[in-house]
Amino acid sequence: MVARRTGIRAALVALTVGMAALVPAAASAAPWRADVRHPHHPRPWVPPWHPGPLSPQAGAPGLGDPFFPLAGNGGYDVGNYSLKLDYEPSTGVLAGAAVITARATQDLSRFDLDLRGFTLANVRVDGRPAVFTRDGQELVITPARPIRARTAFVVSLSYAGVPEVVTDPDGSIEGWVPTVDGAFVVGEPQGSPSWFPANDNPRDKATYDVAITVPLGLTAMSNGVLAGTWSRGGRTTWAWRESSPMATYLATATLGRFTLTRSRVAGVPSYVAVDPSQEAASAPVLAKLPAMVDYFSSVFGRYPFDAVGAIVDDAPEVGYALESQTKPNFDRAPGEFTLAHEIAHQWYGNSVTLTVWPDIWLNEGFAAYSEWLWGEHTGQFTAQEVFDDLYAEPADSGLWSPPPAGLTDPAQLFSGSVYDRGAMTLHALRVTVGDPVFFRILKRWYAQNRDGNVTTAGFIALAERESRQDLDAFFAAWLTTPGKPASW
Ligand code: TRP
Ligand code: ZN
Repeated sequence: MVARRTGIRAALVALTVGMAALVPAAASAAPWRADVRHPHHPRPWVPPWHPGPLSPQAGAPGLGDPFFPLAGNGGYDVGNYSLKLDYEPSTGVLAGAAVITARATQDLSRFDLDLRGFTLANVRVDGRPAVFTRDGQELVITPARPIRARTAFVVSLSYAGVPEVVTDPDGSIEGWVPTVDGAFVVGEPQGSPSWFPANDNPRDKATYDVAITVPLGLTAMSNGVLAGTWSRGGRTTWAWRESSPMATYLATATLGRFTLTRSRVAGVPSYVAVDPSQEAASAPVLAKLPAMVDYFSSVFGRYPFDAVGAIVDDAPEVGYALESQTKPNFDRAPGEFTLAHEIAHQWYGNSVTLTVWPDIWLNEGFAAYSEWLWGEHTGQFTAQEVFDDLYAEPADSGLWSPPPAGLTDPAQLFSGSVYDRGAMTLHALRVTVGDPVFFRILKRWYAQNRDGNVTTAGFIALAERESRQDLDAFFAAWLTTPGKPASW
């Protein structure tokens, strides 16, 4: 324990020393400098602008999600997370330096970030030391001066410790999950605060710069494009940049012993990292990735991001895959339909993202239906055949329950009905409105909500507009009414 503590302190000191360069000096922009007098063009005198009195209040500790009310925080919007991480697999210690650029949405006396565990140091706002307290996963920061509404501010801090693995209401694990050679890093729905300070709510999308330093010989992956790698003193840094807005739960930093294959797919760089133990089993499936990206691009609209790829690890204790933005994480060699599912999520889930967690069917129903579309496209089966097989299930089958948009408990988020009955809902819609209208709905749903957040009500409204039909009863039967929908 003592040795580990020392390691954490040492890691914090090392990071803190490097932090100064990261933190922009407060008010360095010196806007008055632009105001140099020009004798030939004297400017008319304008009374100085008075911003009005400040009435700073604390930002809310949560954003009121029905399932995770304390996830996310009120009073500000994050624009960018810049994370410098250092991970030592032999001790399990993660040391991080975070620089978060945000914009206040109200006058702020203090605000929260979400972070689980860790020892903190050097918490600053706009370069000035800030007071902080911890309360569960709320990191409460009181800046030296209140922050005025609509102004940008920069939060910086260093942290170190052994990350906590998060156990979800359904018993599954997420967050920073150690593996034999590194870590498998997944954050849906609430794992991100186990490795970085976040406004952990899908509504606050941001860009990310993630640089991860690991022992030489390991590969550290993250979202977006690889900006560079460099090695020094037996350690390698992998610097990644995600320049499309991304929800916190889609951030990843999976690292370990990987074979990394770089290529180009659909006009953007592709990065496929595979644990050597999974190479033989995954190669034939991963070979289909370019065709999947091309096919879904043709059906949904152009690929949303500036990188593609996959991370295939050996982390069977996790038990699921995650659609991490640009590079889905697989806990083992994926099957063809699991790969198709996570690729389809790049459109539905990642670019077009739920607003509240109970609307998870907007992610999972769409990705599951995309598997059926892929099966149909490749001539393996038709969507109608899958629908018919499922519809043959008796009324008391677990398939029907809970109704996909009628979840009452976070433990239901990834239940089979969200996937299967969610996909059936889309197929039933397709049969009801016909192929041309249905595929137009899919395309418009993406085109109109790229990089955004959506709701079930918004989808119903679009389907009604495009089909010119009243579909309220249809969607009520499929999405929110318990039991097996009748007359199919
Ligand atoms: N969204 C993932 C997928 O369908 C699944 C997933 C994420 C999950 N987190 C989970 C499943 C937690 C069970 C438990 O691709
Ligand atoms: Zn999914």
